[in-house]
Amino acid sequence: MPEHYFTERPRAEHRPLEIRENLFGRPFMFVTDAAVFSRRRLDPGTRLLIEHLPLPVTGNALDLGCGYGPVGIVIASLSPEARVWMVDINERAVELAKRNAAANRVANVEVRQGDGFTPVVGIAFSLIASNPPIRAGKRVVYAWVEQAYAHLEPGGRLVMVARTSQGARTLARHMEAVFGNVREIAKGSGYRVIQAVRVPATDAAAGAQGGSIAKPGTE
Ligand SMILES: C[S@@+](CC[C@H](N)C(=O)[O-])C[C@H]1O[C@@H](n2cnc3c(N)ncnc32)[C@H](O)[C@@H]1O
Repeated sequence: MPEHYFTERPRAEHRPLEIRENLFGRPFMFVTDAAVFSRRRLDPGTRLLIEHLPLPVTGNALDLGCGYGPVGIVIASLSPEARVWMVDINERAVELAKRNAAANRVANVEVRQGDGFTPVVGIAFSLIASNPPIRAGKRVVYAWVEQAYAHLEPGGRLVMVARTSQGARTLARHMEAVFGNVREIAKGSGYRVIQAVRVPATDAAAGAQGGSIAKPGTE
């Protein structure tokens, strides 16, 4: 039985592949492997997300569930002033993300292995971008939305992509409940890109969701 792409320590035999993509008019190369998400091609949801990110950004940005790294590497490449954190639970994905960052000559990245926000606790972000692991279940993905609120600086954005047929609209409703605002910023190929902004006016409403981090930019 094949392993989930979110297995912590995949054992599947290595089957490396190279993916070449032009994104924001720049050439990128990514090595992928067995037991990581979307090994054969850039996932269409990931592409839609990348193409609609508010780039460049400054400060700290996070690619949560980075896989082999396309989202975080493009953010870092387009945002030389930013420090981009990339987190995944899958050790093989983390190794690929590190290797792909080097291959694409982006140095402003920190790639960490771990569960959700655990490796970046205490950091406040201007942007959190994610193609979340819908297959891991609502409990995981909804918790990410709540924790994202707590890890964004005021004015910071959470941008997520999901398949329309796999709950994108209910994910948008959850983002609205947590952030007090939500906007669909792109739609195509059966996916929706959804954005919520941490605005000070929603702080009271979201207080019950886990509060906030004291100082933006601190670790
Ligand atoms: C849909 S894939 C997206 C991967 C990559 N961002 C892309 O777009 O190609 C979701 C990623 O979340 C990771 N993931 C699943 N559960 C996780 C968790 N609890 N903590 C961190 N990462 C997790 C998976 O290993 C997977 O790489």
